[in-house]
Amino acid sequence: MSAVPTPRPNYLDQFDAAAPADKFPLVRRWIDTEPLQFFKELREKRPILVTPVCTLVALFDDCIEVLNMPRIFTAALYLPKMAGGIYFMAHDDDALHTREKSIMQAMLNRDDLPQVRAMVAKIAKDLLDAAGGHMDAINDYCRMVPVTLVQSYFGLTGADRKDMIHWSYCNQANTFYNQPFDLISDEKRKAIQAAQDEATKHLEKYLTELILTRWLAVKAEKAEHFLLAPWYGLRLLVRKLMGKGDGKLEDNIVTRMVRTAYPGAVDFDIKRLGVNAGGLLIGAIETTSQAVSQVVQYLLDNPQWLAKAQSAAQSSNTADFDGIVWEALRFVPISPYIFRKTASEYTIAKGTDHATTVQPGSYVLAVTQSAMFDTKAFEDPDQFIPGRNWYHYFHFGFGSHECLGRYVGMVMIPEMVRQIMQRPGLKANSRIDYQGGHLPEKYDLSWSK
Ligand code: HEM
Repeated sequence: MSAVPTPRPNYLDQFDAAAPADKFPLVRRWIDTEPLQFFKELREKRPILVTPVCTLVALFDDCIEVLNMPRIFTAALYLPKMAGGIYFMAHDDDALHTREKSIMQAMLNRDDLPQVRAMVAKIAKDLLDAAGGHMDAINDYCRMVPVTLVQSYFGLTGADRKDMIHWSYCNQANTFYNQPFDLISDEKRKAIQAAQDEATKHLEKYLTELILTRWLAVKAEKAEHFLLAPWYGLRLLVRKLMGKGDGKLEDNIVTRMVRTAYPGAVDFDIKRLGVNAGGLLIGAIETTSQAVSQVVQYLLDNPQWLAKAQSAAQSSNTADFDGIVWEALRFVPISPYIFRKTASEYTIAKGTDHATTVQPGSYVLAVTQSAMFDTKAFEDPDQFIPGRNWYHYFHFGFGSHECLGRYVGMVMIPEMVRQIMQRPGLKANSRIDYQGGHLPEKYDLSWSK
């Protein structure tokens, strides 16, 4: 069992005694360096902590309350990172969010998942085999598996995988880790923003070409179906573009999106289609990479669970193994919180002794990692207990903004960890290196061949 150390009893004393300008930097440091102890004290003594920068919400019920009201606790902090709202993720409970998320959920048909898991297993195994017993697990595996799946299952073909990783990284770094509660210099903020602006130019050009090419290919496929002779030249051209000779397009998500006929009243034109294809790439890579690398490191740090994971990894019934992965991710989630901007005055936890009123314009952190240690939903929360109730985890968010790619992530993350756990003699030659940021950049792993 991996027990969490007894909490230091004085976080809030230090917080209360600090000068206003020092309060949030203290909180930030505790979130980054000793989250579990700090959150435990919050849950016990001050479940809603108001700081000069933002308000932290630490209990399970209160996180759910916040995340269930997207028009009050909004995703507005995504707006400046998404050209004022080009992607549905920056929209709260409106027509565009409902429409585009629903269309994309239908395209990502859950019936595909067994096949997706098999694809992930093959991609992962091939990369590990080729590595010959030693790799930088972040670039050569944790990012490489999802970007390969983005090509083969999502259908974003025709670009260099390293470029795709870079475009995705720049977007994620600016959206999630260049926010008011990330204490970084103005110079660094500008550099992160500039990197996203530059990456977006390349990504947009790539997406325009991708959608145009795929649109032509779909037209040619249909023309062939109806034996329209005048299309013959075009068909040859498109087959060349597709790199295939049989005139049939591979089934993948982008092809499904292009093949579908949307009536005008549905309001999903080719431009919206391109934006949503881009969202598939941006969402998939760094999230998966961080979850997989942190779970692997957690298991290597905890020999008892490493042994259980290695043993479960041999079984073709993956449920036990997956339960270990989700429980590990509770201790090392990709982010300890989900952030929101308050649109109208609201009292959180009304009727309790910690009821707190937040004002329009203020920032709220739903501290979902803390919620995953609240005894309200997690019995013996400090104990590592695989197979807990899945619905209580916040790994893919909660409420209206819950992750679009969650079902893909639910097979991709554990399968990637499982493939690593099957390698005999697995060891880490370094800690995960974040290079001063929040996203894993390097992790030196080796195993016996
Ligand atoms: C596999 C490909 C993935 C795609 C295409 C994807 C895409 C998305 C999108 C579009 C949203 C916004 C949904 C909305 O606003 O309604 C979202 C939210 C989220 N995703 Fe994913 N995601 C992927 C993988 C992951 C993974 C692996 C994780 C974590 C392990 C993750 C964690 C989250 C979380 C926590 C949110 C909620 C953000 C919030 O509430 O503000 N995602 N994802």
